Amino acid sequence: MMPKVSRTQSLLVLLAFISFVLLSSVNSRNAGITSTFIRSEWPSVDIPLDNDAFAVPKGHNAPQQVHITQGDYDGKAVIISWVTADEPGPSKVQYGTSTTRYDFFAEGTVRNYTFYKYKSGYIHHCLIDGLKYNTKYYYKIGSSDSSREFWFQTPPKIDPDAPYKFGIIGDLGQTYNSLSTLEHYMQSGGQTVLFVGDLSYADRYEYTDVDVGLRWDTWGRFVEQSTAYQPWIWSAGNHEIEYMPHMGEVIPFKSYLHRYTTPYMASKSSSPLWYAIRRASAHIIVLSSYSPFVKYTPQWMWLKEEFGRVDREKTPWLIILMHVPIYNSNEAHYMEGESIRAEFESWFIRYKVDVVFAGHVHAYERSYRISNIRYNVTSGDRYPVPDKLAPVYITVGDGGNQEGLAGRFRDPQPDYSAFREASYGHSTLEIKNRTHAIYHWNRNDDGKKVATDSFILHSQYWASNRRRKLKKHYLRSAVGHITTY
Ligand SMILES: *[C@@H]1O[C@H](CO)[C@@H](O)[C@H](O)[C@H]1NC(C)=O
Ligand SMILES: *[C@@H]1O[C@H](CO)[C@@H](O)[C@H](O)[C@H]1NC(C)=O
Ligand SMILES: *[C@@H]1O[C@H](CO)[C@@H](O)[C@H](O)[C@H]1NC(C)=O
Ligand SMILES: [Fe+2]
Repeated sequence: MMPKVSRTQSLLVLLAFISFVLLSSVNSRNAGITSTFIRSEWPSVDIPLDNDAFAVPKGHNAPQQVHITQGDYDGKAVIISWVTADEPGPSKVQYGTSTTRYDFFAEGTVRNYTFYKYKSGYIHHCLIDGLKYNTKYYYKIGSSDSSREFWFQTPPKIDPDAPYKFGIIGDLGQTYNSLSTLEHYMQSGGQTVLFVGDLSYADRYEYTDVDVGLRWDTWGRFVEQSTAYQPWIWSAGNHEIEYMPHMGEVIPFKSYLHRYTTPYMASKSSSPLWYAIRRASAHIIVLSSYSPFVKYTPQWMWLKEEFGRVDREKTPWLIILMHVPIYNSNEAHYMEGESIRAEFESWFIRYKVDVVFAGHVHAYERSYRISNIRYNVTSGDRYPVPDKLAPVYITVGDGGNQEGLAGRFRDPQPDYSAFREASYGHSTLEIKNRTHAIYHWNRNDDGKKVATDSFILHSQYWASNRRRKLKKHYLRSAVGHITTY
C-alpha cells in the first residue's frame, strides 16, 4: 500500500526539487570542466640533431626546410620558401597542374643573415600568383640534379558556404611530443594550419655559438612534411623575439622574419607581424602580441581598418590569431593578455568575432562566450559576464615544446573557463557552411579519432541574423495583433 503523503510533505519535496534544479542550472552555467586526465609524457627534450626527423635532403645544395603560406588576400597566390645550404642556387619555382609538365615558373628572391656566430643558409622566397581555386598544383625547386618536387591544393573561392578544415597548432618546438602533435595533425585531414606562435624554440640555445640558428634549420626540416604541402598561416610568439643584446643581437624577430614571410601588404598592413587573409569562408586576422597595439599605434590603426573590410556576407567566419591568450586560468602567463584585452575586446564584440585562438600557455583551455568590456578603473564591474556576442577564446599552446606542460591551473576554475586540460595536442575547426563548424581538440595520446573536447560552433553571422529575423517576426506579429483585435 502506498504511504499517504501530506500536502505539506509533497510541497516540501517540490520545493526541494525546484531548488535543486535552480542550483544545478546555476552550476551548469558556471562549472567548467577541469579534466583530470594525466597523460604519460615523453621527456620534454629536443630531438637530437642527428635524428632522422631532421634529415638533410640528399644532393648538392638540395632545397630544404620547404614551407608555403598564402600569398595574397583571397587565396589565389602562394609564397614558397626554402633554404639552400651550400650556395645560393636558383630562386626559381616551376609549377603546373601536372607532375609531367610544369607550364609556369616564377622568380623569387634570396637572402641570408647572421645571428651571433651562426651564418644562415640561403633563404629563398618566391610568390606564385594568378592560381585557380580548388586546384592541385605541383611545384619543383632547386637545380636539376638535386631538385625536389611537392604539391599543394588551392582553396575554394571565397564563398559564404565554402567548407574548409583548418588545423590549429601552437608552441610546437621540436621534441618527441612535438613530433606526435605534428603526426596527429597530419592524420586529421586539415587543409591549412593556423599557427599561433612560438615555432622552433631555437632561442632556448641562447649563450651557444651557433645553435640558435641551427635549431631554426632543424625545425624547418622537421615540419617540412606538412609545411611543403599546405599553407601554414604564421603568427609570432615571444620565442620569435630573440632579443639578445649580450650577443650583439638587438633586432627583434630577426630569424623569424628572414625565414617566414606573410602576405601582409595584401591586407594593407605595414608589418609582416600583423595582417589578414581570407580563405574559403573565413576571414582570418593575425595579431602580434609583441608589437605595440595601444591606441594610435600602427597595429591598432590597421586593425580598426581591417575590421571595416570584413564582409560577413562573403566570409561569415571571423577568426583571430594571437600568441598571448586573453582568457587564461592557468598559473602560467596568468593575466599576460590583460593589456591587449583592454585594448581590443570591445572590438571583438562589436565586430562579432567567432573565435580567438591563442597559444603561449602550454595547456589546452576553452572559454564560454563571455566579455568583460564593462570593466574599467571606475566602473566597479570586475567580472566577465556571459555575452552572446562575444567570441569563444581557445588556447592551444600545447604543441609539445621542450619547456614542458603548464600543469597548474588556478583553483577554483573561474566562471569563464569551460574546459581545461594540461596535455599536448592540436585542434581542428571544420567549417561546414555559413552557420556550422565542428571544432575538435585532440589530445595526443588518443590518436586521431578520439576528440577530447569537441562542439559545434555556430557562427555569429548566423546567430545575429537569426536574432534579427526573430525580432522582425515578433514586431510583425505584434502589429498583426493590434490590427486583428
Ligand atoms: C650572404 O652570403 C654572401 C655570399 O655567400 C656572403 O658574402 C655574405 O657575407 C652573406 N651575408 C650575411 C649577412 O651573412
Ligand atoms: C567606465 O565605467 C563607468 C561606469 O560604468 C562609465 O560611466 C564610464 O563611461 C566608463 N569609462 C570608460 C572610459 O569607458
Ligand atoms: C550547415 O551544416 C550543418 C552541419 O552539417 C547542417 O546541419 C545544416 O543543415 C547546414 N545548413 C545549411 C544551410 O546548409
Ligand atoms: Fe609563448
